[in-house]
Amino acid sequence: MSTVIKGGTVVTADLSYAADVRIEGGRITEIGPDLKGDTVLDATGCYVMPGGIDPHTHLEMPFMGTYSADDFESGTRAALSGGTTMVVDFALPAPGQGLLDALKMWDNKAGRANCDYSYHMAVTWWGEQVFDEMKPVIEDRGINTFKHFMAYKGALMVNDDEMFASFNRLAELGGIAMVHAENGDVVAELTAKLLAAGNTGPEAHAYSRPAQVEGEATNRAIMIADMAGVPLYVVHVSSEDAHEAIRRARSLGKRVWGEPLIQHLTLDESEYFHPDWDHAARRVMSPPFRNKKHQDSLWAGLMSGSLSVVATDHCAFTTEQKRYGVGDFSKIPNGTGGLEDRMPMLWTHGVATGRLTPNEFVAVTSTNIAKVLNCYPRKGAILVGADADIVVWDPEKEKTITAGAQQSAIDYNVFEGHKVKGLPRFTLTRGHVAVHDGEIRTKEGHGEFVKRPGNGTVNRALSTWKELTAPRPVERTGIPATGV
Ligand code: URP
Ligand code: ZN
Ligand code: ZN
Ligand code: ZN
Repeated sequence: MSTVIKGGTVVTADLSYAADVRIEGGRITEIGPDLKGDTVLDATGCYVMPGGIDPHTHLEMPFMGTYSADDFESGTRAALSGGTTMVVDFALPAPGQGLLDALKMWDNKAGRANCDYSYHMAVTWWGEQVFDEMKPVIEDRGINTFKHFMAYKGALMVNDDEMFASFNRLAELGGIAMVHAENGDVVAELTAKLLAAGNTGPEAHAYSRPAQVEGEATNRAIMIADMAGVPLYVVHVSSEDAHEAIRRARSLGKRVWGEPLIQHLTLDESEYFHPDWDHAARRVMSPPFRNKKHQDSLWAGLMSGSLSVVATDHCAFTTEQKRYGVGDFSKIPNGTGGLEDRMPMLWTHGVATGRLTPNEFVAVTSTNIAKVLNCYPRKGAILVGADADIVVWDPEKEKTITAGAQQSAIDYNVFEGHKVKGLPRFTLTRGHVAVHDGEIRTKEGHGEFVKRPGNGTVNRALSTWKELTAPRPVERTGIPATGV
């Protein structure tokens, strides 16, 4: 059985052209004019793009005394509804738990996924077992990205010496280091001080995590990665301070990528000053939403290429869960949703405003991350042989975002009331039409794990360069005898 997407304009990260796309056995088998197939999807007036890849989700994650509310079923259903066809979730070992053991827990949850998925491995503590298991995680499991939390002191945070040891190991094994960059020690002190002074509301969450705290940690992570000779990916870049560090590092030839979130690009800190406690608490995440200066910086980074990828950090908690923090903002579970809204919000605020071209949109929502993660061109491409993860995008289709109509399991949406123009007509996950003109036809369990081998091209280039420029002893002609 074959499917043909007919009459659309293929839009990739490189170019746009009129062509039909034929799919068989879950893969793209032909691209060209006048193709025939058993099923025809009418793409007239639409762009045929690689499905979105969201490289940053937390589905059913144990965190801050509870579990994030969207699991792999509802989370990937939300993803497909918004044109995203692959998610990369963080497998988080509990303190003292082995990496391989944590992966088993994630495997049990992820079996329900409606679209393909992969994992990043989190390094939440350091020891011989973690050092040893990093090798099979990369070589046997095909997980080449390892996240380090520089914040959440007393829970997930790792210190500089642990991070340096882990980064060195990654350099050796051909992995990529990731960081949540905030100075956890300073955040902990500021939190205690704010609470002691009676600042208990959700706005104090933002006061406790100023942009400087993020900028400092980003600079530190870049330095440590440079010393270890490992590529670095900075998640949820929210501020000019962090972006400036990344921009500078890249201009110096360092291998660093930055990932802003759709929330930080489109929502600002005024959300925390809303008189309704629930409204503000629902938007508590780390780093917090910032002011226009920072938002402009993030947009400029996407436009100029100093920032590479737009993600969501989808970590959805219900209002009831957010209320664990009434009277103490530090107990509000950190996280916001966005899986269903990332693509339409970025199109509306990016492409429709002229800040991004349609090709740049494809780059930052799909192709760039597929390359970084080493799963391109199986993912992130409209090419013969690639997986048929495709979104047929109707630039004229409009809606107003509302929690009542969303796929996510939570009872609100941080983008409530935002009008978006540009939505999927069809979303295909390995050939299966999961979204058909507004109708959700997802198949629970259809998703497969995507292996991503280590030692990608950037790793190889960086290790070659580091080897070539490594400190070497000077060969001298005369050495004085010691003690004379
Ligand atoms: O507030 C956030 N970002 N929650 C999810 C965990 C993390 O830090 O990525
Ligand atoms: Zn984080
Ligand atoms: Zn996260
Ligand atoms: Zn809007």
